[in-house]
Order: sequence, then structure tokens, then C-alpha cells
Amino acid sequence: MLKVGFVGWRGMVGSVLMQRMLDDGDFKGIEPIFFTTSQVGQAGPDVGVDVPPLKDAFDLEALKALDVVVTCQGGDYTEKVYADLRQGGWKGYWIDAASTLRMADDATIVLDPVNRHVIDAQLAKGARTFVGGNCTVSLMLMGLGGLFEADLIEWMTSMTYQAASGSGAKHMRELLNQMGGLRDSVASELADPASAILDIDRKVTAAMRSGDFPTDNFGAPLAGSLLPWIDKPMENGQSKEEWKGSVETNKILGLQDNPIPIDGLCVRIGAMRSHSQAFTIKLKKDVPIDEIEDRLARHNEWVKVIANDKDATIDGLTPAAATGTLTVPVGRLRKLAMGGEYLSAFSVGDQLLWGAAEPLKRMLKILRE
Ligand code: HSE
Repeated sequence: MLKVGFVGWRGMVGSVLMQRMLDDGDFKGIEPIFFTTSQVGQAGPDVGVDVPPLKDAFDLEALKALDVVVTCQGGDYTEKVYADLRQGGWKGYWIDAASTLRMADDATIVLDPVNRHVIDAQLAKGARTFVGGNCTVSLMLMGLGGLFEADLIEWMTSMTYQAASGSGAKHMRELLNQMGGLRDSVASELADPASAILDIDRKVTAAMRSGDFPTDNFGAPLAGSLLPWIDKPMENGQSKEEWKGSVETNKILGLQDNPIPIDGLCVRIGAMRSHSQAFTIKLKKDVPIDEIEDRLARHNEWVKVIANDKDATIDGLTPAAATGTLTVPVGRLRKLAMGGEYLSAFSVGDQLLWGAAEPLKRMLKILRE
């Protein structure tokens, strides 16, 4: 039985991973060992099989005894532990949610419904380091996999509408506090149907701009607004989130030598945990829309093509519909006014499931095949 160590299993991504593994009975048939950075010796979680007391996540000897490490602890932990563990001769599998190692030559980005062939080739070559992709990238590939698989994409843009969860749990709380603060600032006016909407708007704007509006985490109002910058700046004017769109997609698909150009703007909006993206896709040829829908729908069992009409769209192509599910709805599929080779599409997906935990869960299963 594989000895599998879990680090960062109590955080947001880690908790989603634990729940998904419990849902699917994944703890049966492995020997799970839980690690902690603060509560060494305490009882491990109830996952339906016996587990030893919590071990120290920085204890290299304890880590070296494992066949697999699954970490959702974050990039700082990976930086502190990974290199020492490898330099100490550890040859186990490292499965990581953090971005730290993603672009390293010996790391494979995992999204098996899209790149199982790349994962298998890497395993055959002896690869031992497997990393989950950026959430927008993974969700984009789950939604548009059928077009990539058929090599139909010449280039594309992805304009994102990213949820608060991508920044972390504290940010989700701050978003809700911001929403509540705005509502509370006009509670009496809202209760009076005769109050003037422009007065309400003035008060809401004043509340949003006031010094005591809660912005410690986002650095600016998000509720009632948006933030068109995610992550650090790159030297070329892209944000790092925008840079990832191209480099990670092409690495996942094994196309580093002949990359598909992908670029766009990444925007934080006031959704809780589902990221949305609007795509402009330049196809290599004028493919009929029904063939496109068919290819998208057949690519994997989670993508769901949504008819390009208003009712179906507002019912099924929203964060409210996708959150908490593995379904990746894709819709607004139509040819753009620029010509038959120009396709629009819009997709939504839960950022914590396919965007984070699910590819790691599935990679652990692949190791058990
Ligand atoms: N970078 C993503 C975001 C998080 O900020 O939304 C998950 O990759």
C-alpha cells in the first residue's frame, strides 16, 4: 500500500481535497499519514481508516519514509521542504497544489482528462513531481478541451472574471463583509420603496470609498466594483496570472516547442468560488458551430454545452450554477462578426474543484493504477 503523506489538508483547497477523497472512498487502499505545521502529536482526522497522530511537516526523515507527498500547504512550504527532500535522496512522488514548481523542467502539470498522454509519458520517463495547474488554465482546458484536442485553435484570448476564493479564504470573508457593509450603509433607504435610487447610489459609493471600508486583503473595494489586476506584474505589462494562461496551457498540452498564442486580461470580480472566462478563439478553419458543440461536449464527462439562448445561459452558465459541482458549463458559442473562423465562448467552473483539488486527487489515483 502506498504511504501517502498529506500536508495542508486543513486549509481551503486541502479541505476540498479531503472531502472529495472521502466522497469517492479514496482513503481505502492507501496508508494516509497526516502532517501539521503546528499540532504535532494530536490525533489525525477521521477518514474512515486508522491514521497515526499528526507528524511534523518539516521533519524530513518522516517525509522521506513516504511514497507520496500531497501538499496543499502553499508555495512557502514547497520552497522550504522540496529541494532538501530531493537533495536528501528522496525518490517519492510529490503532488502539489502550489505554483512554485509548475514551470520546473522536472515537474509535470496535471489535468488528466486533458493531458493524460503527457502524464503517462512523464511517468514512463521516471518523473516524480506533479503539480496542479493555475485554476483559470485548468478550467479553460476542461471547457475547451475538444477544440485543443482537434488542433483547431490558432490563437485565443481569455478575459477572466475570477472569484474571491482564488485569493484565499480571508478574501472570501472580506468580500462578504464588503457586501454587507454596502447594504448596511443604505438599510433604511432600501426599506423605503419611495427613496431615490441616486441617493442610495451616492451613499453606497461613499461607503465604498470611506477609510473604514474593509479592504485589508484585496487592497481596494471589490463588492460593487472589480479589480482588473491579479498577481504580480511581469516585465512586459502582463500580470503574472495573464502570463500563466499561455505558458501553463502549452506546458500542460506538451506544446512548449510550438506554443498556441494565448493572452488576455485577468479580472477579480465579486463571485465567491467559481471563475468565469470569456474567450475569443481564432480557429484554424471555419468549422460549423454544431461540429464545435459536438467536439466540446464529447471531450470529457464534466463539460456541459449550454445553448446560446438567454434562459439557458442565465440558468446554467453562471457561478451560482457551477459552484460546488464538477460540471464545467461552456456556452455563448457563436461565430463573431469578424468571420467564420472567429468563435466566442464563455465558461464557468468551481475554482476549488477542477481549479485546484480535483486534478491532485486524480493524480494520486493514477499512481495507484
Ligand atoms: N491564481 C488564481 C486566482 C488562484 O488568483 O484566482 C488559483 O490558481
